[in-house]
Amino acid sequence: RKTKMTIDKAYRISQVDKRIFGSFIEHLGRAVYGGIYQPGHASADEEGFRQDVLELVRELRVPVVRYPGGNYVSNYFWEDGVGPVSERRARLDLAWRSLEPNTFGLGEFTKWAAKAGTDVMMAVNLGTRGTKDACNLLEYCNHPSGTKYSDLRRKHGAEHPYNIKLWCLGNEMDGEWQIGHKNMQEYGRLSEETAKAMKLMDPSIELVTCGSSFMGMPTFPQWEATTLECSYDYVDYISLHQYYGNEAGDSADFLALSDDMEEFIHTVVSVCDFVKAKKRSRRNIHLSFDEWNVWYHSKDQEVDIMQNHPWQIGPRLLEDHYNFEDALVVGLMLITLLKHADRVKIACLAQLVNVIAPIMTDPQGGVWKQTIFYPFLHASMYGRGEVIQTILDTPVHETSRHGAVTDVVSVAVFREEEEELTVFAVNRNLEEDQQIHMDLRSFEGYGILEKIELVSEDLKAENSIYEENVKPVRDKEVRMDGQMAELVLKKASWNVIRFG
Ligand code: AHR
Repeated sequence: RKTKMTIDKAYRISQVDKRIFGSFIEHLGRAVYGGIYQPGHASADEEGFRQDVLELVRELRVPVVRYPGGNYVSNYFWEDGVGPVSERRARLDLAWRSLEPNTFGLGEFTKWAAKAGTDVMMAVNLGTRGTKDACNLLEYCNHPSGTKYSDLRRKHGAEHPYNIKLWCLGNEMDGEWQIGHKNMQEYGRLSEETAKAMKLMDPSIELVTCGSSFMGMPTFPQWEATTLECSYDYVDYISLHQYYGNEAGDSADFLALSDDMEEFIHTVVSVCDFVKAKKRSRRNIHLSFDEWNVWYHSKDQEVDIMQNHPWQIGPRLLEDHYNFEDALVVGLMLITLLKHADRVKIACLAQLVNVIAPIMTDPQGGVWKQTIFYPFLHASMYGRGEVIQTILDTPVHETSRHGAVTDVVSVAVFREEEEELTVFAVNRNLEEDQQIHMDLRSFEGYGILEKIELVSEDLKAENSIYEENVKPVRDKEVRMDGQMAELVLKKASWNVIRFG
């Protein structure tokens, strides 16, 4: 099979906002307790932060981490987790039916984020709380001094404000599973009033209003239209969440799901622009894809723990062990986000450690990298530049639910200063390799720097603390003739081709 790609640097789509490589830490399972924070562990520093985890987070160069939820935030009492640890009390977390000891809270997270080299994307509770408490939290975090909550922060040892610039107005408020779930009129008004008040307090912040929990929600896309009609003038982004799974055991169709993600993005952009036109506004609302990943392997375990073993600290919830085909889907989702860099400005791989995560910890032992670690690493390392419109001529193959889909999915990112062009490509044809002809017409003098690939004979191959079955390899087989490049994308493969 043959694919032709034409890439010309004149056809620029948009600069990539580095926050597209964000991630997420929720008070859920072993993300915090036993994940980023494990006092007494051999690698824990003086603050109880696991340094082996920090090293891998830094390797991924995550620019922003969303916190503290997720579903957890909808009954979040931030006051429980600040001040002297000896005075903090435990609370029942209703979202995950776990015990929250509150020994790790907001102050600890900001310290951890500084060590990880990442910014904080904070969420407020619009489930069981509202505008007043959101403002109190903002005052605690961002106001310098001389007020009730800013002075409380100073009393807690943080003289300087945390200066958190990015805030989520609740989480998945359209979902009936959410504590304090709202209908679209209720949430639209609450989001509007909370955004208005928060921006009065600190006009330098940016706000994300909740969109739909996934594209299949019955209220999608009316939810986006109705809520934005309320809050349009005060918010900056609308959120999208989407997880995919291969419950049916149909790998070809599983790999076609990124086409749905593409449609999801198009529809949300259309709704934003519809409301913009109605409002006669000159501002665009951008997209924050602040939860995305593969999530399905651990669903039975989740039901069992939540129903039969509730109120544990750090239970093994959502501990998906990812396989090779999951890494391909994560790669496809990354390509889809990058292709829409003109409107998707923030995205958070959900999540970062232990909970549907690229990084796993052993309670007594070390850390290990899941298969999905690698496409995320490559995109974060080489995907910061300008997205170039690629003209792609590739065959199609049949799938059970998505019909005919393209064999190759790809995106090109140009880093002008570094004089580097990177092409990310997945061959999602499971049967046949793909002969690629690349026409790099405007990249005179460029040669091949490297070709990295993630391949496996076994779509179900996994990594573990004992063995790394899925890891990237360097492939030297790229032939260049002037600005023409010839190479092969193996069947079922993730590829990073770098020119410079
Ligand atoms: O990331 C896991 C959960 O998925 C989050 O808590 C929630 O927002 C979503 O449903």
